[in-house]
Amino acid sequence: MSNIHQELHTRPTFVEIDMQKLRHNYDEIRNQLDGQKMLCIVKGNAYGHGIVEMARAFESYGADYLGVAIPEEGVELRRSGITIPILVLSAISDRQIPICIQYDLTITAPSDEKLDAIDAAAKVFGKQAKVHLKVDTGMGRIGVNWQRAEKFLPILQSSKNIDFEGLYAHFAMSDEESDFTQKQIERFDTVIEMFNNNGFDFQYIHHANSGGILFHSHARYSMVRAGMILYGLFEGIDLPAHINLQPVMNWKTEVVYFKFIEKGMGIGYGHHFVAEDDTRIITVPVGYADGFQRAMGTKGHVILRDILYPIAGRVCMDQMMVDIGRNGTAYKGDEVILVGESENQKITFFDIADWSGTSIYELLSQISYRVPRIYVRNEINR
Ligand SMILES: Cc1ncc(COP(=O)(O)O)c(C=O)c1O
Repeated sequence: MSNIHQELHTRPTFVEIDMQKLRHNYDEIRNQLDGQKMLCIVKGNAYGHGIVEMARAFESYGADYLGVAIPEEGVELRRSGITIPILVLSAISDRQIPICIQYDLTITAPSDEKLDAIDAAAKVFGKQAKVHLKVDTGMGRIGVNWQRAEKFLPILQSSKNIDFEGLYAHFAMSDEESDFTQKQIERFDTVIEMFNNNGFDFQYIHHANSGGILFHSHARYSMVRAGMILYGLFEGIDLPAHINLQPVMNWKTEVVYFKFIEKGMGIGYGHHFVAEDDTRIITVPVGYADGFQRAMGTKGHVILRDILYPIAGRVCMDQMMVDIGRNGTAYKGDEVILVGESENQKITFFDIADWSGTSIYELLSQISYRVPRIYVRNEINR
């Protein structure tokens, strides 16, 4: 898909994506597995990392499946030449079924009615629709309740136009210390047994997301769905010692304006910052329209010349100001690190999620189309 920001690459605000670290994380996860298939989640613009580039990378590493949220994401991947299987994870409306069949996207069926609709649409196409059945073992989002999974049986027995390739469920709290994950696993086992007793087995049976992969090795079934850990981050309890993840993304910008201000002068909308002393202020070209949260204003920091400085006042839509103090030094064009490391300083996505009162999932997926993604292989590829 054309994106002028990506095409021009002139903007001093960009994210850098380290492809070696991505490969490292992929291999780390693969090495945890015991021959199970691996589905790589690339929904939400691959958690902000760029859906097409990430999908191409995972395909080249040998991923078995990709996971997207909505058919449009899958169509974009197919049009970009991705050929490995793609599962659409969310519930879709009936009018989205034909596009899935046309582009060979595997559909999640969260109900028996949806299977009826898929069967009818596939008949029109004269094609087998690929489907993964979704059961709800406790997430409470989509899927037939695990105690009523028999509802799928009649259509499984009668359909001639569906390839029932998979069965899956989703964990609600696999990233926490909780007995509930084990309960979900037991419920899922009951469902699998019920299908087996009725003569059905599935090529792909899956329940584990990042937390499931890391902490519940007996819940890997025949495939796992790796999301956040591929990108080198995990939000939850401490990572087990046997896995080493490396954050793939840094976020940078540069000084575009510098000024001296006098004690008492206000900065930005609502003058949320008022100088307590004479000071120096820089302006950087990043704002909430780029996904840099407005809520960051009161707590957030950036790194400039290996020093951590506070954001001054509210983050605006496209720019923000930083207080570098009475003796701070900065020149136009100096690099400003929003997320990343300098020699002695470090800011992580966890820090900025904390400062803005959100989660790393929300932050990453909201880095907007205006921020060019620079894919670093060995040297910076701009
Ligand atoms: C159905 C499904 N599977 C897997 C994942 C991946 O989760 P995580 O990023 O925690 O690995 C998600 C993400 O929300 C999801 O919705």
